[in-house]
Amino acid sequence: MKVRKAVFPAAGFGTRFLPATKAMPKEMMPVVDKPLIQYAVEEAAAAGIEQMIIITGRNKRAIEDHFDRMPEIEQELLAKGKRELYEALQSATPNGVSFIFVRQSEQLGLGHAVLCARPVVGDEPFAVILADDLIDAQPGVTQQLVATYEKYNASVLAVQDVPRAETSRYGIVAATPIAPGIERISGMVEKPQPADAPSTLAVVGRYVLRPEILDELATTPRGSGGEIQLTDAIARRVARGQVLAQRFTGTRYDCGNKEGFLAANIALARKLGLLPGRRTSDPEEQE
Ligand code: UTP
Repeated sequence: MKVRKAVFPAAGFGTRFLPATKAMPKEMMPVVDKPLIQYAVEEAAAAGIEQMIIITGRNKRAIEDHFDRMPEIEQELLAKGKRELYEALQSATPNGVSFIFVRQSEQLGLGHAVLCARPVVGDEPFAVILADDLIDAQPGVTQQLVATYEKYNASVLAVQDVPRAETSRYGIVAATPIAPGIERISGMVEKPQPADAPSTLAVVGRYVLRPEILDELATTPRGSGGEIQLTDAIARRVARGQVLAQRFTGTRYDCGNKEGFLAANIALARKLGLLPGRRTSDPEEQE
């Protein structure tokens, strides 16, 4: 079945960016000239996704407003011949795409946020996209995962090698390669200490999941940090079926922390020619 829906959990408090996030959602923070959530929605639309399901909470009204049309301003920009600005404004509402907003009334964790989308997702495969992981990739990572889902008909998670000292910030998988860039997951653990981590292969903020994961989430108890963890629910499926990990191609910026957010701004500004210097994602510069 085609992947038509994507869930964007955006109900977290964004405490690492206080005071910027006191009255404004983290997902509305701009990288160059676009909010993080718009990069995520554009990535989903490019992967053929038609229904964007955004999970919001308190202080998140700006996200809903962002995905509304602004006919009066559009008309004015057109009348003044400001075509580029008109197109920039329109890019937030891609054609053929609809938006659904679901409230997560209590911040019980990422898994709980995804579970809030259950009545809208129904019995279909769906993508999960965390907007604060900005991934510069061509094709986009969601498209890469959808292609793998379609080939194997299995849930697939985007993974990347991280330094062992950082395993406690991620869900970490144990996996065996089955094809170039694709591994079969045999175990998963949320935020393990470096000594306990089964590998250094970390799950990042992109998933394409089969609908049974929602059944697992409904009965997943609170885990690490007292929150209902998406990783815990997926780990239960690992025991019962096929869950894949995909080493995606692209450069990831963890915009949930200040260093990553600044690095994304600099790299994308360079790419747009707004700053001198090479892109930080140039291979030579990473060496
Ligand atoms: P984070 O762990 O980054 O939490 O959530 P956060 O609240 O956004 O940020 P900090 O750590 O306080 O600075 C990962 C993703 O899950 C969403 C967040 O919005 C983010 O996209 N989330 C998390 C929810 O939607 N609901 C939750 O209850 C928790």
